[in-house]
Amino acid sequence: MSAHRTAISQEDTMPTVIKTVNNGPLRIKGAFRVVDHDGTTYDLDGRRTASLCRCGHSSNKPFCDGTHNKVGFTTDDQKPASPEDDQN
Ligand code: FES
Repeated sequence: MSAHRTAISQEDTMPTVIKTVNNGPLRIKGAFRVVDHDGTTYDLDGRRTASLCRCGHSSNKPFCDGTHNKVGFTTDDQKPASPEDDQN
């Protein structure tokens, strides 16, 4: 039996990040799988980034195809103002 080592890059140990894009999709960066409602995993060919549609208008759901720009999709990602904000 031979020892087999697999190099682990720093990228592999980083947590996956899901970031909101203002007036756009959710951008995923890191190790992830996208699975549909039937349990089928999308073949992303090892990609480590993807953008998921949250406007509902993509022709390539669940992925963003840029249609959010055409339909004027807007998000409300800002935290609600706290009462203290009004006093300043
Ligand atoms: S968020 Fe980009 S097409 Fe929906």
